Amino acid sequence: MITIHVKDTDGSRHTLETEVNPTANLMELLTEHRMDVAAICGGMASCGTCHVGFMKGGETLDNPEDDEAFMLETLPNYRPESRLSCQIPLTEALDGAEIEVWGDTV
Ligand code: FES
Repeated sequence: MITIHVKDTDGSRHTLETEVNPTANLMELLTEHRMDVAAICGGMASCGTCHVGFMKGGETLDNPEDDEAFMLETLPNYRPESRLSCQIPLTEALDGAEIEVWGDTV
């Protein structure tokens, strides 16, 4: 079981718990819990609407693949903490992470 702390776009805070499942991703968990994540492209790293910022815990994740990095750099609100939640598998590396939903679009 992993625990992830989330601040949604309206400022509301949520604590989500889920089983480790590397075949699922953080975007799916956020949408399942009705966070403000449109995920228009369905997880293809091509829309940016699943944009989140890691306030804590981002350093334990693998670096973005090229397609994620390219998309992130096109986002108006890109910051060093930025990630595409659809590219983050639900692994133990996420346990204790603190994220903010930014839900950007290009
Ligand atoms: S869901 Fe479109 S980039 Fe993640």
